[in-house]
Amino acid sequence: MQQNDIIIVTGVSKGIGLAISKVLCEKGYTVAGWGRTQPAFSDINFHFFKCDVSDHRQVASAVQQTRSRLGEHIYGLINNAGFGHFGKVEELELDKWHDMFNTNVHGLMYCTREVVPFMKAKQRGHIINISSIAGLNGIVQGSGYSATKFAVRGISHSLYAELREDGIKVSCVYPGSVATNFFDTVEGINISPNMLQPDDVATLLLQLLQSPPNFLTVDVEIRPLQPKGKKN
Ligand SMILES: NC(=O)c1ccc[n+]([C@@H]2O[C@H](COP(=O)([O-])OP(=O)(O)OC[C@H]3O[C@@H](n4cnc5c(N)ncnc54)[C@H](OP(=O)(O)O)[C@@H]3O)[C@@H](O)[C@H]2O)c1
Repeated sequence: MQQNDIIIVTGVSKGIGLAISKVLCEKGYTVAGWGRTQPAFSDINFHFFKCDVSDHRQVASAVQQTRSRLGEHIYGLINNAGFGHFGKVEELELDKWHDMFNTNVHGLMYCTREVVPFMKAKQRGHIINISSIAGLNGIVQGSGYSATKFAVRGISHSLYAELREDGIKVSCVYPGSVATNFFDTVEGINISPNMLQPDDVATLLLQLLQSPPNFLTVDVEIRPLQPKGKKN
């Protein structure tokens, strides 16, 4: 990654997306933040573009606006925007199932397909997809969310093989529980200091982006070391 590179981050209002945007800006990289909601954060290196990633027209418009405002040096895409609805399979409303797929899977694909041509033109780039440990293991009352995150894994593995010849890296990150607003709508789980912290995930994402040119990290599974706290 070079200092004049642009990194697109989706879902920047809070949580992991906001944390990585702040870290990248501090390091002097230019961030194009694509999201439904503008964060309460401003920085000379941060540029917000209103975009609901589940709408392919808004994604196409965001890439054009990014290009005309910031130029052609799009190096990174962090596909972070996402959420989970949980519930028993016979009770989960169909709208919620579809909403998760529309953002977590289709939105990720819309962003990727808009950005890949710019990366191919430069023969360099790095796409980082945020899956979840729910993309590696099924979870009770999480069939829909888990299905979307397994899909993210499948997309990532296919694309790393497809795009490597064009100098484009694709990495997939599988976090365990991270202390963010993700859990606001999840019954029975409250955030705790024993969870991973968004800043720590951001540090990992920066390391991935800064890895040497001929170094590809395909998968990274991250978990809190002691999710229940230290032993008494
Ligand atoms: N927290 C965890 O334990 C955990 C674990 C594994 C994986 N993840 C994944 O990590 C990613 C980030 O989650 P988080 O924990 O940081 O949650 P968060 O604090 O709830 O943040 C989610 C972000 O995604 C944005 N977003 C949602 N739908 C969008 C859409 N259609 N278009 C644009 N932006 C959209 C939200 O924007 P609004 O403010 O507009 O809603 C928000 O900025 C998600 O993909 C999640 O599945 C989280």
